[in-house]
Amino acid sequence: MSDWSAGYVADIGYTFGLYPELNPLRLKLAFLHAGLAFPEVGAACELGFGQGVSINVHAAASVTEWHGTDFNPSQAAFAQDMAVASDAHAQLHDESFAQFCSRSNLPDFDFIAMHGIWSWISEENRAILVEFVQRKLKPGGVLYVSYNTQPGWAAMAPMRDLLAEHCQVMGVPGKGVLNRIDQSLDFAQRLFATEPRFLAQNPAVAQRVSTLKSLDRSYVAHEYFNRDWTPMSFSATAQQLQQAKLTFACSAHYLEHIDPLNLTAEQQALLAELPDPSFRETVRDFMMNQQFRRDYWVRGPRRLSNAARDALLRQQKIVLAVPRKDVVLKTAGLLGEAALDQKVYGPVLELLADHQPRTLGEIEAALSERGLTLQQLLELVMILSNNGTLLAVQDDHAIAGARPQTDRLNRYLCEMAVTGTEVLYLASPVTGGGCRMDRFTQMFLLAYAQGDTGAAQLGAFVEGVLKSQNQLLQKQGEVLSAAEQGAELRRLAELFVADTLPVMRALGIAA
Ligand SMILES: C[S@@+](CC[C@H](N)C(=O)[O-])C[C@H]1O[C@@H](n2cnc3c(N)ncnc32)[C@H](O)[C@@H]1O
Repeated sequence: MSDWSAGYVADIGYTFGLYPELNPLRLKLAFLHAGLAFPEVGAACELGFGQGVSINVHAAASVTEWHGTDFNPSQAAFAQDMAVASDAHAQLHDESFAQFCSRSNLPDFDFIAMHGIWSWISEENRAILVEFVQRKLKPGGVLYVSYNTQPGWAAMAPMRDLLAEHCQVMGVPGKGVLNRIDQSLDFAQRLFATEPRFLAQNPAVAQRVSTLKSLDRSYVAHEYFNRDWTPMSFSATAQQLQQAKLTFACSAHYLEHIDPLNLTAEQQALLAELPDPSFRETVRDFMMNQQFRRDYWVRGPRRLSNAARDALLRQQKIVLAVPRKDVVLKTAGLLGEAALDQKVYGPVLELLADHQPRTLGEIEAALSERGLTLQQLLELVMILSNNGTLLAVQDDHAIAGARPQTDRLNRYLCEMAVTGTEVLYLASPVTGGGCRMDRFTQMFLLAYAQGDTGAAQLGAFVEGVLKSQNQLLQKQGEVLSAAEQGAELRRLAELFVADTLPVMRALGIAA
């Protein structure tokens, strides 16, 4: 363990994820669904940015000024390289929370985000962050915080502690953290083979431990093998955040706004009887067996009148961010898979099929004969935004300001795709956020930007890259011959030209 890391896993880097909850634009629909006013975000901060994919994509894709820190210098260096490439407003540091939070040259923030931080740091560090939010979040500003909560971890928590203790006490020092993790997981299997009474009472734990073996090791290391790891009830978190004058606003996870997807009628009725919002959220976590909360908190909530809320909703633009034919009319809540009504969803999707941004007011007016209410439209948009089918669109000034930054960042990421597969996202100036993008699509976009417009040229470009790196494509587990590989890349390039490119143009990712 490095001595600057305060017990945090530092000898293996974190994953290269992008979290849409950090897109300041996302909080608008969530707040409007909750009937609350939201801030316009001019200055934002991410505490513990990991590899920095989220902060860089969101900085490049908007005119928001971002500041952030992560004390892991390898990760901070990776993140800083992206910031240099985009030349966006992103000031990224490799300081500890204690160092960063005591800086005197930070602005006051409209939005502060900490994703995957709160449960994995010491009580002392949580106190530093709360004091920082108390001092630096503007009135009306929003905190996004995600954390492990208790009900979903009840059975697994003692096992996580045992794994971490095994790693510390029994792991062979000097063999690296991945080796120690494997040893700890093997030890757990040996323990299970002795049929411990704990397992008889908590049989799901065996399955959960064996699943860990198949997960990304970087994720497993950071989630399970930290010294500090504290799943917290909603009420306990609320008590700490209230010290920073924060009030719970709503979930940042859109599907959790739609109760019928997750709660039975009896559960909804019991929740409706509970007057205390904090207790209600804690009870909801039991109903949902919640494991990980993703929440927005606000410094000074302001309830909007229905008229003000509806006016703001009608102004919000959205765009269809996937090919129309790929939209699946299903969503998954805790109560199971729910089919989305073709009669309601179909006409909205047809209207948006040209990928032109439209306001909710325009959609409402265009479909007025079908009797779709604004509230239904909002829930439809939130459900389809959950998997990136629909995305909120920012204003024209922000799109124009962001475009040169996203062009630079996307070029950098597409060039990176030639040699690796680390960052599987690109930034959209239209949506202020990122889109997931596989390595081949990134390489097709690179070739397209360099003037290769036909499928044959695009396929040949990627074929050349793979050849130069002695990489062979596989399909259904079989390595393809050179001729088959050429044909497969040509097929993928044709799909790219026909389906992906029109969407990339609409999102401002391709010219
Ligand atoms: C689970 S990762 C989450 C990273 C990022 N937010 C994401 O979701 O991709 C937690 C991050 O917090 C950083 N971190 C932990 N303790 C810290 C501290 N005291 N000061 C600064 N960064 C810290 C770690 O280096 C790590 O990258």
